[in-house]
Amino acid sequence: MASRRLFRGLRCTFTPVVVALTAATGGIVAACPAPRAGFYGVAQAAQGKTVFDQQCASCHKADLSGDAGPPLAGAQFLAWLQFTHITGSQLLAFISSQMPYNTPGSLTKAQYQDVFSYILSVNGYPAGATPLDAQSAGCVEMLPYPKQH
Ligand code: HEC
Repeated sequence: MASRRLFRGLRCTFTPVVVALTAATGGIVAACPAPRAGFYGVAQAAQGKTVFDQQCASCHKADLSGDAGPPLAGAQFLAWLQFTHITGSQLLAFISSQMPYNTPGSLTKAQYQDVFSYILSVNGYPAGATPLDAQSAGCVEMLPYPKQH
């Protein structure tokens, strides 16, 4: 099953690093803003929509409901989040290294951050004052999922 493969590959990529950092600094790690303060910029998500429409919609559909690729919003996406317990950093890393499925890794870092922001916005995760970057992606809490379907 495809999701199982993904689950195994992603599972503990980042956790040991965080644990090691926490141990080394006596628990002092970069503070994340409160979830309600938002995870990405509004303009960033708008740019991400352009990337999505050009690079992702052919398989995931413009409304993210899924086609050749799985849905990236809604009940099935929520079920996938719950099954994998994927973190924000891991999801950004997955998209950046595995997508677009036919040309993985072909976009810029900024484009991947923008398109991830767009996926977050469509799913109802809050926008904030600061754009999402590689570091702040670690602050994104995928669960609890913001919308009930
Ligand atoms: C050529 C088709 C295709 C394109 C284009 C494509 N994807 Fe995918 N995507 C897939 C397939 C197939 C999977 C399932 C892969 C797997 O489970 O191993 C997938 C899985 C995913 C997942 C994991 C979700 C899940 O339930 O497994 C995310 C997130 C994702 N794609 C995002 C993107 C983004 C963002 C883009 C554009 C930058 C993109 N994809 C472009 C086909 C595509």
